[in-house]
Amino acid sequence: MENKRSSFTGKIGFVLAAAGSAVGLGNIWRFPYLAAKYGGGIFLLVYIVLAVTFGFALMCAEIAIGRKTGKSAISAFGDLCKRYKFIGVLASVVPMLILPYYCVIGGWVCKYSAVFLSGGMNDAATADFFGNFLEKTGEPIGWFFLFLGVTAVVVLFGVEKGIERVSKFMMPILIALTIGIAVYTMTLPGAMDGVVYYIKPDFSKFSVNTVLGAMGQLFYSTSLAMGIMITYGSYMKKEVSIESSVKQIELFDTGVAFLAGLMVIPAVYTLAPDSLGKSGPGLMFETLPMVFNNIGQVGGTVIGSLFFVMVMFAALTSSISLMETVVSIFRDRLGWSRKFTCIFVFGLCVAIGLPSCLGYNVWSGVTLAGNTILDMFDTLTNSILMPIVALLTCLFVGYVIKPGTLSDEIEISGKFKRKKLFEVIIKYIAPVCIVLILISSVLGILGIITI
Ligand code: PHE
Repeated sequence: MENKRSSFTGKIGFVLAAAGSAVGLGNIWRFPYLAAKYGGGIFLLVYIVLAVTFGFALMCAEIAIGRKTGKSAISAFGDLCKRYKFIGVLASVVPMLILPYYCVIGGWVCKYSAVFLSGGMNDAATADFFGNFLEKTGEPIGWFFLFLGVTAVVVLFGVEKGIERVSKFMMPILIALTIGIAVYTMTLPGAMDGVVYYIKPDFSKFSVNTVLGAMGQLFYSTSLAMGIMITYGSYMKKEVSIESSVKQIELFDTGVAFLAGLMVIPAVYTLAPDSLGKSGPGLMFETLPMVFNNIGQVGGTVIGSLFFVMVMFAALTSSISLMETVVSIFRDRLGWSRKFTCIFVFGLCVAIGLPSCLGYNVWSGVTLAGNTILDMFDTLTNSILMPIVALLTCLFVGYVIKPGTLSDEIEISGKFKRKKLFEVIIKYIAPVCIVLILISSVLGILGIITI
């Protein structure tokens, strides 16, 4: 497979494919609740600053590593320097841990699509609907199996092309809907306070946690620090500009996340002010049904159904790309058949995903500093593993193969305008920042300092 790599037809093809993997639940579900939790405007500001510096440099590096070697993560690191193959191995563990709980949330989206399509909007808009749903043991598990099953079937039969075609057509509709809903929400009484909270940075709310949260979200949302962009890079043609592709992917991804925040956060202010302080993974599911309900019976049902179905497709394209990655890691390493690997990965996801479901009912007693099991997986991957992979990648590029190696690769397709910035970030700024953030968050977890 390695010597017969197919490639994207051109820049548009590459940017769309990478953006398709990047835009998913991370933008629509995860970003708004983190922004609400970590102080609104200050989180948004930190996120944007990180995206144009850190995110830019790391994405350029990952894509260039992929394109230079023509391999996916493990072999790519191994090819560049044998001793550092383990970075690729570590990066590959991340999607294996994300995929299971991604499918749990995907299941919630399916449930809400079904409720809206069957005219149950009024129920969904009641305050404890979401909590009651999670407390039932069997139902969330059923939806989780459905979402995971569909993902596995698509990967098994290799019919991604069909799904991709549908979602390319749905993506613009989803964005238009998000803008429409955001504009509607902002006209509700009191919503402007929420807009201000979301957009105006309040520096007193700044903490190490804001940076850690924003950094983890950046990696998650742009599919960085888990080997995925390396794989995408390996399919990229030499004449396509890495630098401008990265800018476009980031602009797209951050734009969708920003809009999703604009849709959810002001709604919390007007319709469910109590949930602001304790905003967690349920935020989108608790507030949006209230917004739709406010629109009116017919309009709300139509718009709400459309919205959840679109989000379902956006989530599906991401879960497919995650599972595809996991499947190919096992196949490349162990030479298993596609069918066997799919079944194996399905089983692995059930084993890791079930505890996330059960954490809201049977195992609700199992918490760590107030975090449910799903939160724990999320924190483990986003706040610990991904920063470590990002740190190792920067050190590897900065001091082992040297940034110049990748700048040369990037310059094949023209001038690398932000070359200096890239090299300084990779060599000095990123490693120092990540180490400081990791240390303070570990100290914070151990209770040695308060952050
Ligand atoms: N970036 C995706 C999102 O925002 C999640 C994802 C990660 C998808 C890795 C594919 C691979 O939802």
